[in-house]
Amino acid sequence: MPKRQTLSNRLGYYDAAAREYVITRPDTPTPWINYLGAGGYGGIISNTAGGFSFDRDPRNRRVMRYRYNALPLDQPGRYVYLRDQTTGEFWSPTWQPVVARQLDAYECRHGAGYTRITSAYRGIKATLLYFVPLNDSADCAPCELWIMRVKNNSRRPRRLRSFTYAEFCFWDALNDQNNLDWAQHIVHTRFEQDTLLTTTQFRPTTTFFASNVRVTGFDSDRETFVGAYRDLANPTVVETGKPRNTQAARGNNIGSLCHTFTLKPGQEKEIVFILGVTDEPSQIAPTRARYQKSNQVQAAFADLRADWDRYLGSLTVTTPDADTNAMLNVWNPIQCRTTLYWSRFVSAYETGVGRGMGTRDSAQDALATVQSAPERARENLAMLWRLQFNDGHTWHQVFPLTGEGGPGLAAEYPTDPQWFCDDHLWLVIGTLAYVRETGDFAFLDQRIAYADGADDSIERHLVRAIEFTRAHRGPHGLPRAGFSDWDDTLNLDHGSGKAESVWCAMQFCRALLDLAELSDHLGKIGEAETYRALKNEMTEIVNRVAWDGAWYTRAFDDAGLPVGVASECEHQINLLPQAWSVIGEVADAARAHQAMASLHTRLNTPFGIALMDPPYTRGNERVRGTATYPPGAKENGGIFCHANTWAMIAAAQLGLGDLAYQYYRQILPLARQDSEQYAVEPYVYPQNICGPTHPDFGHARNAWLTGTAAWTYVAATQWILGIRATFNGLHIAPCIPQTWDGFRATRQFRGATYDIRVSNPDHLCAGVRAIQVDGNAISGTVVPLFTDGATHRVDVRMGQ
Ligand code: NOJ
Repeated sequence: MPKRQTLSNRLGYYDAAAREYVITRPDTPTPWINYLGAGGYGGIISNTAGGFSFDRDPRNRRVMRYRYNALPLDQPGRYVYLRDQTTGEFWSPTWQPVVARQLDAYECRHGAGYTRITSAYRGIKATLLYFVPLNDSADCAPCELWIMRVKNNSRRPRRLRSFTYAEFCFWDALNDQNNLDWAQHIVHTRFEQDTLLTTTQFRPTTTFFASNVRVTGFDSDRETFVGAYRDLANPTVVETGKPRNTQAARGNNIGSLCHTFTLKPGQEKEIVFILGVTDEPSQIAPTRARYQKSNQVQAAFADLRADWDRYLGSLTVTTPDADTNAMLNVWNPIQCRTTLYWSRFVSAYETGVGRGMGTRDSAQDALATVQSAPERARENLAMLWRLQFNDGHTWHQVFPLTGEGGPGLAAEYPTDPQWFCDDHLWLVIGTLAYVRETGDFAFLDQRIAYADGADDSIERHLVRAIEFTRAHRGPHGLPRAGFSDWDDTLNLDHGSGKAESVWCAMQFCRALLDLAELSDHLGKIGEAETYRALKNEMTEIVNRVAWDGAWYTRAFDDAGLPVGVASECEHQINLLPQAWSVIGEVADAARAHQAMASLHTRLNTPFGIALMDPPYTRGNERVRGTATYPPGAKENGGIFCHANTWAMIAAAQLGLGDLAYQYYRQILPLARQDSEQYAVEPYVYPQNICGPTHPDFGHARNAWLTGTAAWTYVAATQWILGIRATFNGLHIAPCIPQTWDGFRATRQFRGATYDIRVSNPDHLCAGVRAIQVDGNAISGTVVPLFTDGATHRVDVRMGQ
């Protein structure tokens, strides 16, 4: 069935059979990275093995260093040098850090939770497979494995030596950079039983690095290994081929293990490297023993793949668009699981020391993973509810290891409000999505303490969230903005307490409608009526005070003046309230279509929808953050991909299937052919793309950790394909491009499997004429729940 197909560009392609993104040149415009690990021990790895590791918390338990802004780009990493002992020539099979060597072949395959880099140089083929095994044993420490295979494809025997390089960080990543004298005095490494052990004298925490074969030598002192005023491209030890067996008493500690082997023509050698961290050094020997043999390592890799298969199996689709299939079946859900684990905490852009997990971010990330990782989504939501105060607002961020919450960015302006008007409302929306998907109503009874004491059921926490917004309204009756709403940079309240967010009013309406739906389902008719009445009251206010003639106003400032209106010179129109007037069911049909038409005319571009227009051209105290960016960047008129997804949903909700799909494809990373200009990874969504007013229009940044991941998945699967969980069953109401003949989807829901086949014989965008379940017609578009765990065939015929 797949017809439309790009899937490749000058630097790589998507391998659908292997479910891997294959990078065919090492010199990508930016490092194209992947994530390792399952939310515990893990890290990032680029297509040339740059990157770093940490255990659960990248600020408090960092394992490896990474130099974010430094040159050469994307160093250090998980490196191996190979040295031909006959000629003295050396290279790195991952290209970096010996980039002067032109490899004869190179390929990087990023898969779900692993990366495999294969290359060839002068007859030696080398493959490095990196992954973090699932750690299910209390006796073992969390660790990562590097599996190196080296094969002699030349016609003569080859004497080779390998040297690893991993640069260790003091576990407190902030102090590793701030307090250099202390950090570099206290960390030291010793070599025992073929293992490098990096630790301090005051805590048992130990980073260990070992291999499954005897070493020829080792080094742990960076300066000795590299040599003064040299760099990783030509370390002294590799150049001379002689490990110095340094046990660093202090300084910059590294893990370099040296192995020597001779390969006959056609012969292959495998070495497994084990890098991990533990507070219980007694775990190190069992961990090494566990990955001693090749078959043990292969079994661990198979377990990891099986875990990902389970996760990816919750929904699979076959549409006429191969790019869409690749994204929805593999890379978009991989990205969603990564954001579930890491929110916006640690990436190639986020250093993992400042932000922790974002409350609003993690609540939104749950939206796409409630079906595929419900336990983790529930755990995250419970963690977030612990950040709520008795008055109903929440901390803006949390460090998961310590549970420490904080106000995030707002701390920079202590006299401004220290709360954000949307955080707590996302928690309502995320929690109800979880319950709708899982039917786990008991979650609502779970008791959780407020950040400032006393505990309550989650159901009561939800009510407090609503109460906070009701109690914090401005002069027009709209929600006060607080430090900001979803847009961190729109900082309108400078102490008056009067700034208001129109968008947040619409988000509030969505939360109220979701609560009303829950109350209906639970038979709490009075509550449902109350929620609907509150929603109607807010809808009336928005339509009375925030309709600007052809679109909705974005906000009101400290002085009660509107932002995002035609009468302004800058920031006349903003994407958010147009899309959310539909999502929050605030606009009537005429205004909804008008608002979306204005959005399209004023903000749409071939690379996505700009967040607002015209951007600010100079600093502006009225809005603060937004105007710190140059025109066309990020929130100042850039293409903020996260927000594009709401236009997709709104278009689908209006039945505009062609438009929804156009918005979807505009930012579909695999569909971008201009990889040099686009620059970032083509297999995951970036947070932002430079907008039409920016000199680098079309250039993307900040891939991986973005709300775009979860929301695009929601937009595509729930609103374009139209398969949505409800409390009572699976709602199917596609809104697709007219050109599609239909599509297929296999969806797991509440333990059963729904084999859904949608046909579109009249080539419509929307409308369901008939649904048959296991051959029997049903009325309406909600396919009932099945408790039998079986597969049920669902035939959907679109039509008027
Ligand atoms: C990125 C932040 O992580 C997110 O919380 C925010 O909503 C967007 N920026 C928009 O400002």
